[in-house]
Amino acid sequence: MKRILIIGANGLLGYNLYQKLKDKFEIYTCSRTKRVEMENFFLLDIIDSENVRKKVIEIDPDVIVLTAAMTRVDLCEKEKSKAWDVNVVGTQNVAEACRSINSKLIYISTDYVFDGTKGKYVENDTTNPISHYGLTKLEGEKRVGDLSINCIVRTSVIYGWNEVFQRQNFVTWMLNQLKSGKKSTIITKWYNTPTLVDNLSEGIIRIITKEKTGLFHIAGANCINRYEFALEIARTFEEDISLITPVDKLTLLARRPEKPCLDVSKASTELGLKLLTTQEGLDYMKKNIKKWKN
Ligand SMILES: NC(=O)c1ccc[n+]([C@@H]2O[C@H](COP(=O)([O-])OP(=O)(O)OC[C@H]3O[C@@H](n4cnc5c(N)ncnc54)[C@H](OP(=O)(O)O)[C@@H]3O)[C@@H](O)[C@H]2O)c1
Repeated sequence: MKRILIIGANGLLGYNLYQKLKDKFEIYTCSRTKRVEMENFFLLDIIDSENVRKKVIEIDPDVIVLTAAMTRVDLCEKEKSKAWDVNVVGTQNVAEACRSINSKLIYISTDYVFDGTKGKYVENDTTNPISHYGLTKLEGEKRVGDLSINCIVRTSVIYGWNEVFQRQNFVTWMLNQLKSGKKSTIITKWYNTPTLVDNLSEGIIRIITKEKTGLFHIAGANCINRYEFALEIARTFEEDISLITPVDKLTLLARRPEKPCLDVSKASTELGLKLLTTQEGLDYMKKNIKKWKN
């Protein structure tokens, strides 16, 4: 049985992946803080290179999935050096430890490595991040090492039910706004390929079981703007769409790429994975509504 270490296991993706992997593999989990009981859990800050090396050698996993990152885009812009430490130096620490025991690293990256002027980006399209978050994630990709052994998975706007206390994702935030009768102004200009967390986890599981290496885009099947996505959410959950107003401009600290939509053909073909549209993802969430804890 393969031994897997998930780093960032109490995050949205990390915990979903843990739930799906725990009965199939020998699982080890870690994060910077403890929020929920998990198998073989320990605390780890990826900035601490010595501890990363020590724990990785001690556990000796076949595969490490690195989901941990500083993920708040505006906070990364504000605290640039901290974002670099976590997303670049932290990734390098994990990659080096991984190399020292010849295990495989699966690194989770983002559509924000692109500038968003082209849309429908395939894996070998030219990167050109326009935010510090995007830059640090791209530099993280460069630290991963040999892609004939390791893997980089780029994804986009992850959504799904929060199963431990996690920060809101766009869908749970939107539902909270709608259910409490609050009005929201939602941007029309940002397009993405929003990704149901369960669909992304399934893709990562296939990378592990099929022993795939290289670069993959695993994201939703449709390129949609935030306003249209908000309307889909409201309609699916039978909430009041009149609470949602479109805007074409938002003033935020970090710049966002307008259309960094990911082409998912390679994941679909090579992993045999059905990537879900936002409507299919929302329907899945509606069916599994009992899982919602916050
Ligand atoms: N969310 C999105 O829409 C999105 C889109 C594209 C790509 N991604 C990428 O997908 C991955 C997963 O995203 P997510 O939304 O699941 O993230 P998340 O919910 O924000 O969770 C991030 C995880 O990283 C851990 N972490 C942060 N700093 C750490 C450190 N220094 N040492 C160890 N652990 C640390 C956090 O632990 P604590 O909570 O204990 O601090 C948490 O478990 C990230 O790499 C992100 O860049 C996300």
